[in-house]
Amino acid sequence: MASHSTTSTSKPASIHDSARGSPVPEDAFHHLVQEINAILGPSNGIDSAGVDVNELKKAMLDYRSVEHEWSQYAFADHSRAYTRNLVDRGNGKANLLVLVWTPGKASPIHDHANAHCVMKILKGSLTETLYGWPCQRADNPTSCATETTYEQEQVTYMSDSLGLHRICNPSKDEVAVSLHLYTPPNAAKHGCHIFDEKTGKKTHVSQCHFYSELGVKM
Ligand code: SIN
Repeated sequence: MASHSTTSTSKPASIHDSARGSPVPEDAFHHLVQEINAILGPSNGIDSAGVDVNELKKAMLDYRSVEHEWSQYAFADHSRAYTRNLVDRGNGKANLLVLVWTPGKASPIHDHANAHCVMKILKGSLTETLYGWPCQRADNPTSCATETTYEQEQVTYMSDSLGLHRICNPSKDEVAVSLHLYTPPNAAKHGCHIFDEKTGKKTHVSQCHFYSELGVKM
């Protein structure tokens, strides 16, 4: 994948989405986006207290990844560890993002700003390293790390109640692509915290950057 994937084949039929001002393809990926919106419920603030995370996980698991359906959001940039590309705002209650991971690169160890995070692998594989909260321990966060590698189509869940994590693309030469749903969209508004691997020292990151929004590079 250079900037956009080149695997697109036939052009799907389109519906018009007034929020985007441009036609949205009628394919399984965009139906998943609609289904996620239905699960999140109507726009009534960012509260996600009543959101059924298992329903969100099931919807993501049921979708079978087809690259030309999501490639319009998948901007790769090998000068960065990964790019964060906004697909949808989930009735104002979420951020749905496609992340494109440079081979061998990882996110910093981070928290989730009180948001639920559901992640599906769209392409390749990603390794999650899970850490305890540094304040619960005398030493650094790496000592109780567990690693799990997720393959294409798998779905996983993360939240502050499970601790901290980082995600890495273990491939030497292939990008990996994942779909992330954050609800509520707190991290985008107020940022999150990243943690030093050796000391556990916490740093506030005030705004989480989008590399592209709704398929348009920022
Ligand atoms: C992010 O959304 O920037 C981080 C993705 C992750 O590592 O969970």
